Amino acid sequence: MGAIPIIAIDGPSASGKGSVAARVAAALGWHYLDSGALYRLTALAATQHGVALGDEANVAAIAASLDVAFLEGMILLEGEDATELIRTEAVGEGASKVAVLPSVRRALLQRQRDFARAPGLVADGRDMGSVIFPEAQLKIFLTASAGERANRRYKQLIAKGEEATISRILLDIEQRDARDRARAVAPLRQIADARLLDTTEMSIEKAVQIVLDGWREISAN
Ligand code: DC
Repeated sequence: MGAIPIIAIDGPSASGKGSVAARVAAALGWHYLDSGALYRLTALAATQHGVALGDEANVAAIAASLDVAFLEGMILLEGEDATELIRTEAVGEGASKVAVLPSVRRALLQRQRDFARAPGLVADGRDMGSVIFPEAQLKIFLTASAGERANRRYKQLIAKGEEATISRILLDIEQRDARDRARAVAPLRQIADARLLDTTEMSIEKAVQIVLDGWREISAN
């Protein structure tokens, strides 16, 4: 068992794992890694530098030298506030494209591992428990039905004043899931030692409680 306690929370887009992971980290006073943000930042930086998202060597070079800072509630890319920009559907789509490239995933590997620092880390993504932190003491596969995830994303977009239709969002979610599951490197899947947490009919608070209970149970042994 590694010296630093790690909780790995993997799952599909819009499952709520980001909110759950951030709240679990806050409750425990641990660090939090939003690994999807690194793929989103890579896609955004590539676009800003005029690099095509399928140009593996150049996108990997951008990922390797990514100048980012994760501040309290704020993400800076090359010194500029990118917190909102990386959450757009377009950047999410781009992230899903660069995430299939093996050299991009390799370039981001150590950067993600460096987040494992005392007193502990909660990491959220697709391959936290399988590839980045296989030593994590608690692994959760957090999901919800595609319909429920589309509903949640719809509410978020409408709250931000963006235009959206449920049917379009559902289609995007299904396409992104298919791409994340089908890719050759680090595909999205529930690994054997991960606990399934289906939040289709569950509040964020309840999901947070279940993860914290799981951790207490493990750390008591
Ligand atoms: O979790 P998210 O929606 O911010 O992730 C954006 C994209 O990045 C998503 O399409 C899958 C990819 N991703 C990945 O391949 N591996 C991770 N550990 C995290 C995200």
